[in-house]
Amino acid sequence: MKLLILNGPNLNRLGKREPEIYGHETLDDMEIKLTKLASEHNVQVSFFQSNTEGTLIDRIHEAADDGTDGIIFNPGAFTHYSIALRDAIGSVSVPAIEVHISNVHNRESFRQTSVIAPVCLGQMTGFGTNGYILAMHAFLLRGKEDCSI
Ligand code: DQA
Repeated sequence: MKLLILNGPNLNRLGKREPEIYGHETLDDMEIKLTKLASEHNVQVSFFQSNTEGTLIDRIHEAADDGTDGIIFNPGAFTHYSIALRDAIGSVSVPAIEVHISNVHNRESFRQTSVIAPVCLGQMTGFGTNGYILAMHAFLLRGKEDCSI
C-alpha cells in the first residue's frame, strides 16, 4: 500500500507552535513514527507539507496519478474554508482521511466546521499526532473483513 501524508499551513511549525495545543513533537518526529509503523506493515509512505493552497492541490492531483492508495490529510486552517482543497480531494478517486492534532470540536466555533470532511472517509481529531497513526491503521484495516469502509 502506498500512502501520502499531507500537511497544510503552519504544520511545519509543530513543536514550536502553541505547544499547549499542538504538543512538543515536531513534524520530523511524527514522520519518524509513521515511517516506522509503515515499514512494519509494508506501507510505502510519502510526506508533503506546504503552506500554499495551490501547491497542496497540485500534490493531491499528483497522488491521483502516481498509484497512491490513500491520503492522510491535515489541511490546517484550510479545513474550515478551502472549497478548492475540498474539490481537489473530491476530484480524485484516492480516498482521504482528515486528521487534526487538536480536537477541533471543542475549540473556537470557526474550527468546528470542516468543508473537507464530507469528501473524506472519516476524520480523526483530538488525539495529538497519534491521529496520523490511527489514520494509517484505518487504511490498513480498510477492506478487511468486518469493516464496512
Ligand atoms: C489543526 C486545527 C486547525 O483548526 C488549525 O488551523 C491548524 C491545525 C489541527 O491539527 O489541530 O492549523 O488542523
